[in-house]
Amino acid sequence: MNQNETPLLDTLLHHVERAPVQFHIPGHKHGRGMDQRFRDFVGDKALSLDLINIAPLDDLHHPTGPIKRAQELAALAFGADYTYFSVQGTSTAIMAMILSTVRPGDKILVPRNVHKSVLTAIILADANPIFLHPELDTNFGIAHGLSVECVAEALALHPDVRALVVINPTYFGISADLTRLVDLAHSYGVPVLVDEAHGVHTGFHSELPLSAMQAGADMAATSVHKLGGSMTGSSVLNVREGMIDPRHVQVVMSMLTTTSTSYLLLASLDVARKELAEHGHEHISYALGLALAAREKINQIPGLTCLDETCLDSSAAFALDPTKLTVSVKDLGLTGYDVERILRENYNIEVELSDLYNILCIVSWGDTEADMDVLVSALAEIAEAYRDRHGRREVTVKLPAMPELTMSPRSAFYAKTQVVPLHAAIGRIMAEMVMVYPPGIPILMPGEVVTQVSIDYIEENLRAGLPVQGPDDPEIRYIKVVQDGC
Ligand SMILES: Cc1ncc(COP(=O)(O)O)c(C=O)c1O
Repeated sequence: MNQNETPLLDTLLHHVERAPVQFHIPGHKHGRGMDQRFRDFVGDKALSLDLINIAPLDDLHHPTGPIKRAQELAALAFGADYTYFSVQGTSTAIMAMILSTVRPGDKILVPRNVHKSVLTAIILADANPIFLHPELDTNFGIAHGLSVECVAEALALHPDVRALVVINPTYFGISADLTRLVDLAHSYGVPVLVDEAHGVHTGFHSELPLSAMQAGADMAATSVHKLGGSMTGSSVLNVREGMIDPRHVQVVMSMLTTTSTSYLLLASLDVARKELAEHGHEHISYALGLALAAREKINQIPGLTCLDETCLDSSAAFALDPTKLTVSVKDLGLTGYDVERILRENYNIEVELSDLYNILCIVSWGDTEADMDVLVSALAEIAEAYRDRHGRREVTVKLPAMPELTMSPRSAFYAKTQVVPLHAAIGRIMAEMVMVYPPGIPILMPGEVVTQVSIDYIEENLRAGLPVQGPDDPEIRYIKVVQDGC
């Protein structure tokens, strides 16, 4: 197999060239039945690729032609035995990974700082999560990975768990010692399922943390769209055969996937895989060069600090992806959200996310030196302005404590519920999720007991203007708890 091939794109382009008279959906028929302004902007070429699973174009739900070949090429490029394409992001790939592995009542080891899709799958599967404490970085106010010691202790206590979930790397680019975690889990016969939403590029450069497949993990849900050059919403699920039955994974993936799969997204996965396989190393070297130069300059600005290798002091924080530029702004007396807003309003710069203490900028091979200069000089100006205004002051970083889970997430989600004012919820069992998105890590989830610490943390995020979401009440003045006696 040649990574230079793009079987799906070639098939689509050939089909468009043949220009068959189209009596199938989508009804916009190459854009002719569409709003003209949108059609003019997007362009007829893109709209002509908006096709559907007619026989010549293969079917993601039962691939036998170009989609099958494109997935096989992807498996080879990612070092997997099988790769399944997702047109519903990594969220669906994560759900397929969990729902194909655990059955109702099965125990699953999960770091508490997981994305909401992991917890959604746990609710749907009626699995029994054993939450593990990720290592906390009290300097930056973020959670890293799981230590080998923490997982070893959990496995010794629960040798009957059905799977271990690992985030590799985190949103902030920190990886745990994945090879050791995999070896440890496998010694108990436990498969390792990796949330690799932020790590599609890792397997293509030796200066980045190991990819899930390189470390021997059993499955990895990987956002190609985030950092691998495909279109938003396109991801892959990589599978290693052995402890996992790939055919069952494919069935579950199909159960969760729309029957109207976007061929634009599928084709973008085909070409992103080609680009990563053929030129990934040189692209990543370029992105690393940009990110490392920017880090050096930002670290020289008084009041700003980049998360760097100095945080790598354990098996939970074992390797760093420097293209994730996490900048701590707390010493300016500002929140990350303040800086995000100032960058937007005064400099026309949009960052990936902010939190109470940091901003996160994603650097890729789509960036230029000029882009990096704009960011660095904006940050220098902001630092100078606010240093003068507030003077430099140390801020104590607060992190939410891990809440106690006293009811299964599914039972709490389906229980009779009651809506109560936020402060009246202390001691009650949550029936919905509350999270800041991004990054989408729940502060509270169904089944957990509400504490004053969790409420303080929610209110601090709301005060800072951060996007707290989840509850039916968008202002989070009320939350849904399980009715007493349920
Ligand atoms: C750690 C993590 N996992 C999973 C996801 C979900 O990925 P997607 O947006 O591709 O569905 C995200 C999204 O931000 C994430 O940050």
